[in-house]
Amino acid sequence: MIPKKYITWGSSGAVIRELAAYGAERAKVVGPENVYDFTIGSPSIEPPKKFFDVLDRLMKTVSPIELHTYAPAAGLESVRAAVAKYLTETFGVQYSPNDIYMTHGASSALAIILAALMSEGEEALVLAPYFPEYKIYVEQAGGTLIEVPCDEDFQVDLAALEAKLTPKTSVIIINSPNNPSGAVLSPDSVKAIAELLNKKAAEYGHPIYIVADEPYRELVYGDVEVPFIPAYYDNTVYCYSFSKSLSLPGERIGFLALSPKMTEHDNAWAAVCGAGRALGYVCVSTMFQQAAAECLGVTADISKYDDNRQLAYSALSDMGFNCVKPDGAFYLFIKAPGGDSQAFCRKAMEKDILVVPGDAFGCPGYVRLAYCVPFDRIKRSLPAFKALAEEYGL
Ligand SMILES: Cc1ncc(COP(=O)(O)O)c(C=O)c1O
Repeated sequence: MIPKKYITWGSSGAVIRELAAYGAERAKVVGPENVYDFTIGSPSIEPPKKFFDVLDRLMKTVSPIELHTYAPAAGLESVRAAVAKYLTETFGVQYSPNDIYMTHGASSALAIILAALMSEGEEALVLAPYFPEYKIYVEQAGGTLIEVPCDEDFQVDLAALEAKLTPKTSVIIINSPNNPSGAVLSPDSVKAIAELLNKKAAEYGHPIYIVADEPYRELVYGDVEVPFIPAYYDNTVYCYSFSKSLSLPGERIGFLALSPKMTEHDNAWAAVCGAGRALGYVCVSTMFQQAAAECLGVTADISKYDDNRQLAYSALSDMGFNCVKPDGAFYLFIKAPGGDSQAFCRKAMEKDILVVPGDAFGCPGYVRLAYCVPFDRIKRSLPAFKALAEEYGL
């Protein structure tokens, strides 16, 4: 029998991709320059030159058989050593290659670690708004996803978090800088979360792991500090991706790093290897993992996203739209005028503006605008946004 859960996951909920597909069709009718597609969080900036230089060198100097062969499941030893060294030197937490497992972006890091850390019937807490795929990974792991609403500024609400913690809680997923709100958790918030989890873990008699999902770590604006959660809380698994920082979402490269001091580290490592195997992740591309490892600490020219952020935020705020200025990532999370995000998205669509209802992120009443698009698209969309604002009487 075909399992119902896969039918459900496969036939619903892919709102973002459906909207983007609509945008592509609509562009054929009215012309791409007249469709203001702000749906997908896919980088619009080229990968850095260094990435191509490294690829070029690898292709010229490594034999094709060696360059395109299977890698070990956890990743090449040299790559895992480079990642461990980079994390240790950058964040002051002492990692070894035995903590690092290369993955197909943050997505598979999350799928693997949730499968590895959760048993049937356990709960994973997420701070809402959140990346929709978390629910699939948690349920695939046999767990239940529990939403914890954030405060009005999309910062953690500690009382709300404490209220949702139970003896069944095994994991809390934290995503900062956040998709879709752009909020960055402050060091004080991380400290407070760590204190609360330590207290509750002692009370329950089992660890509560933080899964830190950080594909946007480098995408912050101004002098905002992104606290490195493993430095505050030992039971943290750090999930990273090169999709956004190097503009390589299609290459599928990332890693997860078990904190060296985490409870049951060796069992967790074995479980990660087992989950990766069970989920069919044979290995990450031998060539791309080497190229990414040489680009640790390098980014695409992400300063361009700041220009987009400034324009989108200031223009929309001036028109009367209400949103918190994002400190990171490349999204603007806008309060839907009238409170109905679905209705707002439909009205926006009539003007060929495509944005995503916040319902998809566990936060109805808001819409997400992905500003990782060419600057010109934002500029050209402003008259349509103005007309929309007028329709809502802003
Ligand atoms: C918060 C968050 N986590 C994880 C991912 C997965 O990204 P990838 O698998 O490309 O690394 C995304 C992608 O947009 C994201 O926004």
